[in-house]
Amino acid sequence: MLIAGNWKMNTDLPGAAKLAEEVVEALGDPGPVQVAVCPPFVSLDAVFGALRGSSVKLGAQDMHFEEGGAYTGEVSAAMLRSVGCTYVILGHSERRQYFGETDEHVNKKVRQALAHELVPIVCVGETLKEREAGQERHVVKGQVERAVESVVLSDPARLVVAYEPVWAIGTGKTASPAQAQEMHAYIRRLLAEFLGEHLAGNIHILYGGSMKPANADELLSQKDVDGGLIGGASLQAGAFAAIVAAGKSQS
Ligand code: 13P
Repeated sequence: MLIAGNWKMNTDLPGAAKLAEEVVEALGDPGPVQVAVCPPFVSLDAVFGALRGSSVKLGAQDMHFEEGGAYTGEVSAAMLRSVGCTYVILGHSERRQYFGETDEHVNKKVRQALAHELVPIVCVGETLKEREAGQERHVVKGQVERAVESVVLSDPARLVVAYEPVWAIGTGKTASPAQAQEMHAYIRRLLAEFLGEHLAGNIHILYGGSMKPANADELLSQKDVDGGLIGGASLQAGAFAAIVAAGKSQS
């Protein structure tokens, strides 16, 4: 079970350090649940400091696929490693929607992250229009297939997939537990096809989209839901800790 907080473009430097401290305090002992927080780039270093001595890991929200050089405004995998990142969110629907990120970019980033021993949290998910047209499996299949193309993986812990239906992000609408389970099982079958049965059985597949303490139990109790990628609720330490506690009770 992995519960990760995506803070998106929220918190300034002191606010991020404070939230990280509050998260550590609110969590207590997360037991077998792996926990990560993904603050904005400028706060990674400070949050890493605030997490020291706890089991909470650090993640970034994006990175560039090149090693380095003349790419103004970008951040490399090695830079993320140097500030203590374990995870990096890749292909979030907000990056795809607002910043023109393509499946090809996502694939290059996944391979670059793996080469630098960062664990990619690869986001996939359909829009409302695509679901209403009955295209959700087709869309998700394409995203998963292209994200892992040419990826060589020997350890399932090196890759995480997050199913985030776009219509459920920040809208208060959550996929029903049955809808989540159905898509997660499908993603696991796809991963088995592309990466092999053994790896697929052990890769964490997270659900993301308006997960909060009130619905976390039901979602996390689904067989193929191995955790959550939490947006809004991860900005309140108490709510985030309650979701981790829900995960603990399901582990
Ligand atoms: P919300 O939890 O705010 O819906 O955001 C989900 C998300 O996009 C996490 O990456």
